[in-house]
Amino acid sequence: MDQNNLRVNGKRLQSTLEEMAKIGATPGGGVQRLTLTDEDKQARDLFVKWLKEIDLEVTIDEMGNIFGRRTGRNNDLEPVMSGSHVDSQPKGGRFDGILGVMAPLEVLRTLHENNIETERPLVIVDWTNEEGSRFSPAMVASGVWAGALERDWAYSRTDIQGKKFVDELERIGYRGKLAAKKWPMHAYYEYHIEQGPILEHEGKVIGAPKGIVCLHWYDIYLEGTANQVGPTPMEGRNDALCAAAEMILKVNYLPGEMGGNTVATVGEIQNYPNSRNIIPDKVHFTVDIRSWDDDLAFRSWESLSKDFKAIAQARGCPIRIEETWRVEHAPFNGKLVQRVLDVADMLGYSKLHMVSGAGHDASYMNQIAPTAMIFVPSIGGRSHVEIENTTWEHCEAGTNVLLHSMLQSANEKSF
Ligand code: GLV
Ligand code: MN
Ligand code: MN
Repeated sequence: MDQNNLRVNGKRLQSTLEEMAKIGATPGGGVQRLTLTDEDKQARDLFVKWLKEIDLEVTIDEMGNIFGRRTGRNNDLEPVMSGSHVDSQPKGGRFDGILGVMAPLEVLRTLHENNIETERPLVIVDWTNEEGSRFSPAMVASGVWAGALERDWAYSRTDIQGKKFVDELERIGYRGKLAAKKWPMHAYYEYHIEQGPILEHEGKVIGAPKGIVCLHWYDIYLEGTANQVGPTPMEGRNDALCAAAEMILKVNYLPGEMGGNTVATVGEIQNYPNSRNIIPDKVHFTVDIRSWDDDLAFRSWESLSKDFKAIAQARGCPIRIEETWRVEHAPFNGKLVQRVLDVADMLGYSKLHMVSGAGHDASYMNQIAPTAMIFVPSIGGRSHVEIENTTWEHCEAGTNVLLHSMLQSANEKSF
């Protein structure tokens, strides 16, 4: 068989994704599979079972990353890797992350049933806690694996209930023995839904991002003075929530003021004691700044943090700022991106060169190996919501692009 005629089984991919979508299914049609919860464990168990069914060698490292390896003809050669994450947002969709894990599984199932060998080994990976929603930051386990983040710092991160990452990892039985440490890799591909409106708007099937924007995460803690709301005059209050409110609008106006292509968001807030008749005395909120231009993101933060301090002072609310996490913008390997575009051409799919505004484990992989991503359209440009959707036809198309991109990389002697 001419290998260029090889295609994945779209129906099987669909039923695999549908089966995964039952784990943590929400009434609104999405999934809630927060990292290191029972649902995450259930999805991992099923994934591991499927890896073993096609004779992959399964290993789990000390960050809970799961690898499934298929031997090549020459196992001294560096492997080609592809993966993403099985965890989700609190009210997430059925495609974010999981598509990028189930698609390489479909690729390897296709190779398995056709008895196709590759020169290099192939590896599928599920990275722990890509979302960063339960435990910040995002992409933490690929970050540790790549050597960009400290394992013990990651272990010590806590969720909103004060539960520690490492304890939850242990609890679900996925704290492996293997060091979370990079190994030489020939190429890394990550397949994902776009999570934005561009492909749909342009009427294209395959997106090949030239890279991922930088991400900066901050945690802001404010203190006020609690008091009975009735008898306490308006003058002289130290209302932590009002201070936060002023700051949140500054975040929203920031990109417009700084120019360029930055976006800035406050997505999470906790207010204490959260009673309608007590002046709030404690507020925590998060800030997320993203840009293709790292310097602009830095300057934006500098300007914002000055404003925050001035607001805190004016309202008599002491502020503590944690600079939680930064990852630089990740320009992907041009040759690998071109390969994705060429494969899309070969398979007859329309394609677009673009930028990823969402974060992905590919950011950290890009620091250690030639990396590229494959995007398919998100219906209505919606993601991180229960109604997130992508057509089965597009899911299949992207998986065929992944198949042939991986095959080409896996059969080349050198880069
Ligand atoms: C990851 O889901 C992100 O925040 O982009
Ligand atoms: Mn994702
Ligand atoms: Mn996500």
